[in-house]
Amino acid sequence: MNNASDSWWRSAVIYQVYIRSFADGDGDGTGDIAGLRSRLPYLADLGVDAVWITPWYPSPLADGGYDVSDYRGIHPAFGTLADAREMIAEAHGLGLRVILDIVPNHTSDRHTWFRQALAAPPGSPGSPGSPGSPGSPGSPARERYIFRDGRGEDGSLPPNDWHAAFGGPAWTRTADGQWYLHLFAPEQPDLNWDNPEVHAEFESILRFWFDLGVDGFRIDVAHGMAKDPALPDLGLPEFSVLTGPGQDDHPHWDRDGVHDIFREWRAVADGYPDRRVFVAEAHVRPGRLAGYLREDELHTAFNFDFLKCPLEAGPLREVIDRSITELAAVGAPATWVLSNHDETRHVTRYGRARTGVQATFRDRRLPTDRALGTRRARAAALLMLALPGGAYLYQGEELGLYEVEDLPEDALQDPVWERSGHTVRGRDGCRVPLPWTGDAPPFGFGPPGTVPWLPQPADFTSLTAEAGRADPASMLRLYRHALLLRRTDPGLRGEEFHWLDSPDGTLLFERGPGLLCAVNLSARPLPLPDARDPLLASGPLDSDGLLPPDTTAWLQRRTA
Ligand code: GLC
Repeated sequence: MNNASDSWWRSAVIYQVYIRSFADGDGDGTGDIAGLRSRLPYLADLGVDAVWITPWYPSPLADGGYDVSDYRGIHPAFGTLADAREMIAEAHGLGLRVILDIVPNHTSDRHTWFRQALAAPPGSPGSPGSPGSPGSPGSPARERYIFRDGRGEDGSLPPNDWHAAFGGPAWTRTADGQWYLHLFAPEQPDLNWDNPEVHAEFESILRFWFDLGVDGFRIDVAHGMAKDPALPDLGLPEFSVLTGPGQDDHPHWDRDGVHDIFREWRAVADGYPDRRVFVAEAHVRPGRLAGYLREDELHTAFNFDFLKCPLEAGPLREVIDRSITELAAVGAPATWVLSNHDETRHVTRYGRARTGVQATFRDRRLPTDRALGTRRARAAALLMLALPGGAYLYQGEELGLYEVEDLPEDALQDPVWERSGHTVRGRDGCRVPLPWTGDAPPFGFGPPGTVPWLPQPADFTSLTAEAGRADPASMLRLYRHALLLRRTDPGLRGEEFHWLDSPDGTLLFERGPGLLCAVNLSARPLPLPDARDPLLASGPLDSDGLLPPDTTAWLQRRTA
C-alpha cells in the first residue's frame, strides 16, 4: 500500500465497523470477518481512508465485545486469526488502513487473569510482595485488578460510593467477601494500572497486533485507566461523566496518571518504521483533550463536543473554533464525528426539537421528524467533511440509517437495559445490522435465511446500499461524492481554514484556495456569495439560487 505520506492520519476519513452488525458471512446472524472482507470493496469505493473495527477478540459479549477475555485472539463467531491476517492484507491492498479497538481499562470477568484473581486468596492489607497500591489487599493475582475489603462491620458495604456507567454500584462482592471495582458492568473488572505487570502486558498486546500489520488503535475509555489509589468517595447520587467545572482531581476520570501510560504506548508505536497511530476515546472537560495529544502521547482523539453540539450555527462555530485552536496548540489536528455505536444515530437526533440532547444512555424516546433529521444529517455531513482534520463515520450513516427505537424488549442486549432495571433501553437502536440489498430482512446482511442478532425494520428497504447506489439523491451518493471531492479537490486538502461573515444562523468558511462551505441553519434562504459555483450541495438550491434552510453547499471560485 502507499505509505508515501506519513501524515495520512491528520486528515483521514475513518469508517467505524461495528463488526457484529456490519456483514455476516456465515449466516449465524452475527457479523464477522468474512462479511467484512466481502464488503471491503464497498468501503474502498465509498472513498474512506481507514476502517476502525470494534473489538473482535474472544469475549462473552456481555458488553458487545468491550469485555475481552483474550486480547491476542479472534472471537470464534467473527472468524480466526488467519482470517484477520488476510483481512488486513486485503484492506491494505485496497488502500485502506486498519485500526483496532483496544480495551485497557477493564477485561472480561472470564479473562484468565480475573479467574486467577478470584481463585487467589484475598491476601491481607499491606502483605509483603504487593506491587503496591496503598490500602490494597496485596495478593499478586488480585493486584492486577482493584480488589478491596468492604466497609461496615462485616465488610458488607462497598469500599466506596462509586457508581457504574451502566447502573448500580461500581463494586461487586466475591464469594470470599472482598469486592472488586468495575466502572462498567460487573463482567468488566477494572485493571490496576498502578501495577507494572499490567503495563507490560498491554505493551506486548500492542506489539502483537502491530506485528500483524494493523495501523493503529482506538483506545477505549482512555480517560479512565488511572485511579486515585485512596479510592475516596465521590459523594454523587449517580454515575456521571466529566462535563462541568469543579471536577478537578476526579478519583477515576481524566487523572494525570493516564499520560504516563500513553507516553509508553507512543514509544511502542514509534518503534515501528511506518507510522502507527492512536485515537483516544476520552470524555474530558473542555480544555483537557490537548493534554492527550501532546507530541509524545496520542495522535488524535474523538471530538465528542462536536457530536453533542446542537445543530445551531452559534454553538457549532464555538465548538469548531475551540477544537481547532486547542489542538493546534499541541500540533494535533482536529477530528469530527457525528455518530458512533454508543450514541443515538444523528438522523434521529437532528429530527428532534432540541438537537443537542443526545446521550443514548439516558435518552427517552422523543418525538422525531425523520425527514427533517435526514435533511439536517445531510447538511451536517457536508459541514463535517469540509472541516480541516480527520473525520469518523459510523457504519450506516452513509445510508441514512436512523435509530431503531422500537426494538422489542426481549431483543435488547445492551447491558444498560438490565442494569437500569429496564428503565433505559440502551444503545441497541444504533447497532441494528446493516441493510445491503433486497426488500426484506436480512437485507443482504447475511445469506438468505439469516436471522440478524437484532431485528431489522421493514422500511430498511429504501435504505439499503443497493437502493442508495441507484438513487442520485441518496445519502450514499452524497457521501461518495463528498469523499471523492475530499480526495481530489486541492481546496479541501491541507489545514487552511477561516471564517467569512455570514448572517445569523449560518456558517461560511473558506478552506484552501477558492473552496468555500456555506451552512444554512437559519429559517430563511441564504444568498450564496457572488462568483462561486456550487460544487456539491446537501439538497437542491431554490429557484432563485438561494441555499434553503438546513442545507450545506460547497462552492468553488468561478474561473473567468
Ligand atoms: C466505551 C465503548 C462502549 C463500551 C464502554 C465500556 O465507551 O465505546 O461501547 O460500553 O467503553 O468498554
